[in-house]
Amino acid sequence: MSAIIEIENLTHRFADGTVGLDRVTVEIEAGAFVVIAGANGSGKTTLLRHLNGLLRPTSGSVRVAGISVQENPMQSRVLVGMVFQDADSQIVGETVRDDVAFGPENLRLDRAEIDRRVGEALSVTGLTPLADKRPHLLSGGEKRRLAIAGILAMRPRVVVCDEPFANLDYPGVRQVLDQILRLHRAGGTIIVTTHDLEKVLAHANRLIFMRGGRIEGDGPPPALVARAESFGVRHPRAVQHLGVEALSWLS
Ligand SMILES: Nc1ncnc2c1ncn2[C@@H]1O[C@H](COP(=O)(O)OP(=O)(O)O)[C@@H](O)[C@H]1O
Ligand SMILES: [Mg+2]
Repeated sequence: MSAIIEIENLTHRFADGTVGLDRVTVEIEAGAFVVIAGANGSGKTTLLRHLNGLLRPTSGSVRVAGISVQENPMQSRVLVGMVFQDADSQIVGETVRDDVAFGPENLRLDRAEIDRRVGEALSVTGLTPLADKRPHLLSGGEKRRLAIAGILAMRPRVVVCDEPFANLDYPGVRQVLDQILRLHRAGGTIIVTTHDLEKVLAHANRLIFMRGGRIEGDGPPPALVARAESFGVRHPRAVQHLGVEALSWLS
């Protein structure tokens, strides 16, 4: 078992003194599908933002594929793709196609390879018909698929999705979930934060609960899900009758 992410004693104190993370130590194996859950303010987003150097540790360290994120933030951005809750803030292109091309262009791939990757990413996310549209005109679900297409084109080893189902309707959740599962089947390591365990937990092999900037629960979903409500996360009722395997909006 090899860890693709190694976080050691990570503490993050914001400028105003708020402790966002408090001595977090955790390893994530390559190919894992991890769900991180916890109440608002428990530190989920703060943790994710350390995985590609968007935030720097106050103390402690973060390594991805053996590379120190603090020392090599640019390299970590190639290894770790992030889909944030606020899809608008991630839009950089004038058109859907340009937006997806932005990442691979920054990797300095040759034009043919960029075009190939962009075409493929648009196709699997169902965005080909919208390729020439202005990204800001897309629906919420389309914008999130666009963020995923941008990440597919980068071929990162780790995909991080912060509240990927927030504000999406039922078809939107299903489409985004389908894309996340594709990335996992292609060998990616997946980390998803969510309050909605019932939408995704069937696909996870690990559940982490956070509270107060710490990891306070960590293990296989069937063993942990019963403690959800003690962490401010709704316990999915279906689990009592049908088991964790039933917790997916794709079934
Ligand atoms: N830029 C910031 N400045 C000060 N405090 C912050 C900032 N961002 C987040 N926090 C605080 O850090 C804690 C963890 O926040 P966050 O990681 O966003 O939680 P979650 O994603 O689990 O809802 C919260 O107490 C939050 O208010
Ligand atoms: Mg958050």
